[in-house]
Amino acid sequence: MAESSASRAAVTAPAIVARKGTGRPVVMVTAYDAPSARACDAAGVDVILVGDSVANVVLGYEDTLQVTIDDMAHHVGAVARTRPAALVVGDLPWMSYHVSTADTVHNAARLVRAGAGAVKLEGGRKRLDAVRAILDAEIPVMGHLGLTPQSVHALGGFRVQGKELDDARRIVDDAVALAEAGCFAVVLECVPDAVARLVTDSIDVPTLGIGAGRHCDGQVLVFHDLLGLDVGQGRGPKFVRRYADLGADARNALVRFADDVRAGTFPSSDETYHAADGVSELLGVYGRSASDTDTGADAVDGVEAGRPA
Ligand code: KIV
Repeated sequence: MAESSASRAAVTAPAIVARKGTGRPVVMVTAYDAPSARACDAAGVDVILVGDSVANVVLGYEDTLQVTIDDMAHHVGAVARTRPAALVVGDLPWMSYHVSTADTVHNAARLVRAGAGAVKLEGGRKRLDAVRAILDAEIPVMGHLGLTPQSVHALGGFRVQGKELDDARRIVDDAVALAEAGCFAVVLECVPDAVARLVTDSIDVPTLGIGAGRHCDGQVLVFHDLLGLDVGQGRGPKFVRRYADLGADARNALVRFADDVRAGTFPSSDETYHAADGVSELLGVYGRSASDTDTGADAVDGVEAGRPA
């Protein structure tokens, strides 16, 4: 049952940590703008991730390497201005936490000032200095292991990670290091379920799986994937379950709109503003007959016009 944001307490990073071992899975969904954030919050999701997947999902790039901290702050702001009860996590994009500690903390702070309650970054032991510096600035950090899309070139493509023993061991050790450093949750993307289970049993903060099977403490999906909004992008990865086909619904609605415009049935009289009676007399001055247009007395001052177009 969904709880509205008005009726539930704001979700915080410590509240997410406290979910470990309670048997209440954490639900995280990505959102990149106000309407998607409102939909997530109205559905009662715990965490809204403003993911750098905005690059491929919304901005039309091939991978996530193209988005900047300015892009991410822009989208975090749009989500945060809806004031959701869900925890807003802002993704630190590629190269925003790789160069220097000062840069890293400055960029994390930009997302917090845009409205995030926590940030996420990719990588394990290699990124511990960045994690510690951000935590030191009192900003909660979510880790991300397994298939880390910002490493697409180093990994040789978007592939399942942790299938072999050494690789699996590396993921578990990285997760333990992130949790010990103070991350409040760790995303596991595209890893075998046995590896996700081992990680989940090895750390005392929640694991959030995406393509990592059911033995995680929570699950995350991309908004557009789960709603079928990725028109023309194919079926997507096998771990996506589609709960709607909004892309098809949108296409059908647009076809109907185009048909109505072309048939002259949109807009109707009800969908039209009408001038006061006297104005119709002017039509004669311009050589038009009153039947060329609708007249009436319902909207001369425009007050009923509603939101601006
Ligand atoms: O950017 C994103 O959407 C993510 C999720 C896939 C976890 O990092």
